[in-house]
Amino acid sequence: MCSIIGYIGNRDVAQILLDGLSRLEYRGYDSAGIAGIQCEEISVVKRLGRVKNLSDAIDESVKFDGIGIGHTRWATHGSVSLENAHPHLSFHGIFSLVHNGVIENYESIKHFLVEKGYEFYSETDTEVLVNLIEYHFKKETSLENKFLVSVQKALLHVRGTYGIAVLCKHSPGEMVVARKSSPLLIGIGDNEMFIASDACAIVAHTHNVVYLNDGELASITQSDFSVVTMKNEKIDAVKCELDWRIEDVSRGEHEHFMLKEICEQPVALQNAMRGRFSDDLSTAKFGGLRLSPRELRQVDRILFCACGTAWHACLIAEYLIEKYARIPVEVAYSSEFRYSNAPLEKNTLVFVISQSGETLDSFAALQEAKRKGYRTLAITNVVGSTIARESEGGIYQHSGPEIGVASTKAFTAQVCVAAMLALLLGRLRDMSFDDGVAFVQALLQLPEKVSKILEKKDEIRLIAEKYAHHEDMLFLGRQSMFPVALEGALKLKEISYIHAEGYPAAEIKHGPIALISGKCPCFFLATQRNTLQKTLSNILEVKARNAMVIAVVAEGSKIPPGCTDDLIVVPETHDALEPILATIPLQLFAYYIAKARGCDIDKPRNLAKSVTVE
Ligand code: G6P
Repeated sequence: MCSIIGYIGNRDVAQILLDGLSRLEYRGYDSAGIAGIQCEEISVVKRLGRVKNLSDAIDESVKFDGIGIGHTRWATHGSVSLENAHPHLSFHGIFSLVHNGVIENYESIKHFLVEKGYEFYSETDTEVLVNLIEYHFKKETSLENKFLVSVQKALLHVRGTYGIAVLCKHSPGEMVVARKSSPLLIGIGDNEMFIASDACAIVAHTHNVVYLNDGELASITQSDFSVVTMKNEKIDAVKCELDWRIEDVSRGEHEHFMLKEICEQPVALQNAMRGRFSDDLSTAKFGGLRLSPRELRQVDRILFCACGTAWHACLIAEYLIEKYARIPVEVAYSSEFRYSNAPLEKNTLVFVISQSGETLDSFAALQEAKRKGYRTLAITNVVGSTIARESEGGIYQHSGPEIGVASTKAFTAQVCVAAMLALLLGRLRDMSFDDGVAFVQALLQLPEKVSKILEKKDEIRLIAEKYAHHEDMLFLGRQSMFPVALEGALKLKEISYIHAEGYPAAEIKHGPIALISGKCPCFFLATQRNTLQKTLSNILEVKARNAMVIAVVAEGSKIPPGCTDDLIVVPETHDALEPILATIPLQLFAYYIAKARGCDIDKPRNLAKSVTVE
């Protein structure tokens, strides 16, 4: 959801900015732009659409003097236009700024500045901020830290969220950055500095980073940086080491990040489990929860909050924890929970699940639960992300960077962590040693079983191509397969723009069956033995109404001939892990349909990863 990048150093500034922007493009692709200081003035180049359009526009004439900032936009305030594209320039040309977030009170600030004679060329909240900084700069009399102080003063008047990077033509060797609820990190190189909203933009250059906290600003030069609060108190910044490699953020041999990430799932699952089983292999352990067995035993209820795909992982967690640990679980959309003032039981544990750890609604849900005094934990993928740092404990998924906008490996890793959590909580209550051992064995076999499904890629591609021309599809499953159905439908609509719905299989007769015809194929998730006969009846109900049926079933299931048009067989596994195996064919199905339809798979229209606006 918008991304920012900055560089100070001796290398080709524009090239470093463009490389970083292309790695960050999954956060927004309405427009892209860069700005730098050139011949003592600020020079800006912007283009609509993809970063490629911007790099095509950069020629020899663009030679920034060792400093520059860049941005990709996901439009919030103002349409997708060149005027609204970042970086924005202040009225007198003294400052340029890139911004990720939303300035809520921009209209009143704009009004104030218009009265002071400022004129505006765009509809954005960001242009208001860059001019407010300039206004304070012109008023400021002290010479020391004038640039930083002006940014500070402007931000004190701002309500909303921001990750910003600012250039000032009167201080050409310095960049000022600040954050509130939008991620920002500083990369420390060898006599060069980087800033970015996401580590994947700079991992090719340095692994030494400092994550800025909310309410902090930093003044950065080529060789040094200092972090201060809004009240100018100095902060001792904590340096961290990134554990990502450049290969993790490259597509490698794959045509799309989405396919690469689907194929990485066996490894991602192994990483989610590594070092997390007890020595006797009968239960799971998570050091990061920071809760003793006794404290975990006292939990009466669990609330999960998340958005999008992570919300589907929460729904599966609900089935698993209720079934294996017998603890009541509730699931809420983060965006709903944060404003609902929902009553929670005293001993409720609140979990936020977020791949990026930056989704604003999920962060706000976490803060709301914390404010009410609940123990808040997070399941996140990105180490050092806002949600990971603001929660009181949690579990890292260790899935590696996920770049494709449609979440795949992060989802199955979240479900794997949820299954391990159900195991841990179950073993603290009534689950026997033997059942715990069987559960762990099934988990350990999971990566290999996922690999077996991935070997069926071409088979699934042929099925997908057969259905690619349809405009409506239903995904149906019972129990924990219902959230899998929701996820299958979401994957398909996200990347192929086919209208798809997920439904509990037995519920269709209460409405959706009216949609059934030869034009609306039904995708059944039918791997569960105990409900297979019931699901088969549902299949016959739609078949009787001319629907084409695709079904995912477990090896050894007896499916009467003629019941389905296409069958995808997955290995048998423990009940708790069936949702993971059933998800893989759905991801591949959506991927190959989108490919057959010529869609932009890694960057679907209107979507962005890491949604840092409400
Ligand atoms: C966006 C992405 C989804 C993702 C959701 C939640 O909508 O497009 O793929 O599931 O945000 O993201 P999070 O990082 O919090 O898991």
